[in-house]
Amino acid sequence: MSSSSSSVLVTGGAGYIGSHTVIELLNDNQSVVVIDNLINASYEAIRRIERITGKKVTFYKVNLLDKKALLEVFQRHSIGSVIHFGGLKAVGESSRIPLDYYDINMTGTIHLLQVMQTMDVKQFVFSSSATVYGDPPLIPIPETSPLASTNPYGRTKQFVESIIQDICNVNNSNWSAALLRYFNPAGAHPSGLLGENPLGVPNNLMPYLSQVAIGKRASLSIYGKDYPTKDGTAIRDYINVVDLAKGHLAALKKLGDSKNPTGCVAYNLGTGHGSTVLEMVQAFSNAVGRPLAYEIVDRRPGDVANLTADPTKAKTELNWEATIQLDETCASLWHWQSKNPNGLEDCPGDAPPES
Ligand code: WQD
Repeated sequence: MSSSSSSVLVTGGAGYIGSHTVIELLNDNQSVVVIDNLINASYEAIRRIERITGKKVTFYKVNLLDKKALLEVFQRHSIGSVIHFGGLKAVGESSRIPLDYYDINMTGTIHLLQVMQTMDVKQFVFSSSATVYGDPPLIPIPETSPLASTNPYGRTKQFVESIIQDICNVNNSNWSAALLRYFNPAGAHPSGLLGENPLGVPNNLMPYLSQVAIGKRASLSIYGKDYPTKDGTAIRDYINVVDLAKGHLAALKKLGDSKNPTGCVAYNLGTGHGSTVLEMVQAFSNAVGRPLAYEIVDRRPGDVANLTADPTKAKTELNWEATIQLDETCASLWHWQSKNPNGLEDCPGDAPPES
């Protein structure tokens, strides 16, 4: 936790979940330093954070593979803790370019951990994913469910979790780490100024569906209607992005300090409630106020029938739970998408100030 004199470093802080988390940190009067390589994000997200919070954001365009630049940020600021979002996150893409995923998601994270160790910064919140569970034996999924990733993206998350665990297991290492396994982030900031800003064709359901609603996509392809579920379409646990962001603040506040390190602990960040794809189409259609076009096609390789969280551990240990209901999540997504039909792409000038 950043003390009065130290800052929280947020990597990937211009991204979807990172930017919403920076807002919650600033609203909690935390001192924040943001780095992002802007490969998958726009600097406009930083400007929107400043508009929403009324606070200036300290930002550096840094690639985690540039260890020297990373070290300079730690030398320029008194960093007390790190929340690490920076990385590539598309399941399908990871099967096409696995080496890039292993390089950025693992080498980049190892550089970050090495610099933290050098600078004696031992409080770490890691952006993990429910995809580490693969096709779980038990629903809802507890954190004790076996880790069985089925794609390179998921494996990078699973391998990094093991690296962090090993660091924390070193005698007298004094590390405190929270591994946050997200289920399906959805929705947007209630201001309508910030939301998911996927480059190109969205991989994920809700951003694709919202682009159907604004006429950017003709219709949604629903991947499979032959799953063993109430309506045959797959079930996921869609968690509002603001709830998810607040989960990071809660985890940060629970991290131990060097005198009382907590070691490495994993938490599911989900609602505990599963929704089918057709239920999500209906919920978002209700927010838009008209039916949305879709067609049923074959299953997508690698998809599983159901990923629904058991969020009990986060509730009891982090004193956190998701509270935003699905209709509000869909309304926030529609508010964001209808106000920003091209996401953050249209905004003037993307170059951040010289770092
Ligand atoms: C949700 C459901 C699809 C698109 C992945 C990652 C996870 C996280 C979120 C990063 C599934 C169906 C989707 C479409 C569809 N990413 N779908 N048509 O696959 O559950 O999770 O993204 O952290 O780690 O694994 O999310 O939104 O792609 O799919 O029918 O055009 O919607 O089959 O059932 P997923 P998703």
